[in-house]
Amino acid sequence: MSLAAEQAGSGVPLVFLHAFPLDRRMWAPQESLSRHYRRIAVDFPGFNESRLTSTSSMESMARAVMKTLDGLAVREKAVFVGLSMGGYVLMQLARIFPDRIRAAAFVSTRSGADTPEGKQKRLENIEIVQKQGVKVFVERQIPALLGETTQKERPAVIEQFRKIAMAQPANAIVGALRGMAERGDTSTVLDGLQCPALFVSGAEDTIIQSAEMEGMSRRVKNSEFHVVEKAGHLLNLERPEALDDLLNHFLKRRVL
Ligand code: MLT
Repeated sequence: MSLAAEQAGSGVPLVFLHAFPLDRRMWAPQESLSRHYRRIAVDFPGFNESRLTSTSSMESMARAVMKTLDGLAVREKAVFVGLSMGGYVLMQLARIFPDRIRAAAFVSTRSGADTPEGKQKRLENIEIVQKQGVKVFVERQIPALLGETTQKERPAVIEQFRKIAMAQPANAIVGALRGMAERGDTSTVLDGLQCPALFVSGAEDTIIQSAEMEGMSRRVKNSEFHVVEKAGHLLNLERPEALDDLLNHFLKRRVL
């Protein structure tokens, strides 16, 4: 199936893959990249304007992304930016379609599978969504998804997060929780990655710590690793200018 997508600009395709439980609108702070690239952002199945499919596995999402790019006549290799769940999908793209990737930016993400405790937490979260609703679930995510500095000093970012996350249908959230719980370990994909890769972590991320992402970057031959200070997991919303700078420099030096 194809996904709802927006595109702007021209040049090398730069494809943004969103986090959970958000949609393509989370990439609004990265709009200026369309001045130099063909910026494309998609909604994963069930989120925002994309239809829900029978499975929300990370692999099926990756295949849907590629189908969408085919539909948009993206013929050349693209640069992909995946944040957290978007990064899990990017690992699957790298596993299944390595020849379609010009460069990869992994932001606040991991290659390991869920631990048994992590899987259990997903099941508990499914129950919260089903019994108490999306709003309660989203509110409970804030302390983990946004860094300490954002929680103290950036109320507009918290609102931006709430607005997008609370608009998602419960069945999309439940499907993605199942898909993430079932995903396998993709660390060996990193070992075989041939394209330039950027790894970015927020210093205040409590879900995936910087040391873990640095370890991932060491597995890739042609990679670089950066930490964004005063930002947590959703660092593209928390410190947009920092991520834009990193992406622009990386692309200029390693890709163009
Ligand atoms: C995300 O930001 O996409 C989620 O934190 C991913 C996850 O729950 O593993």
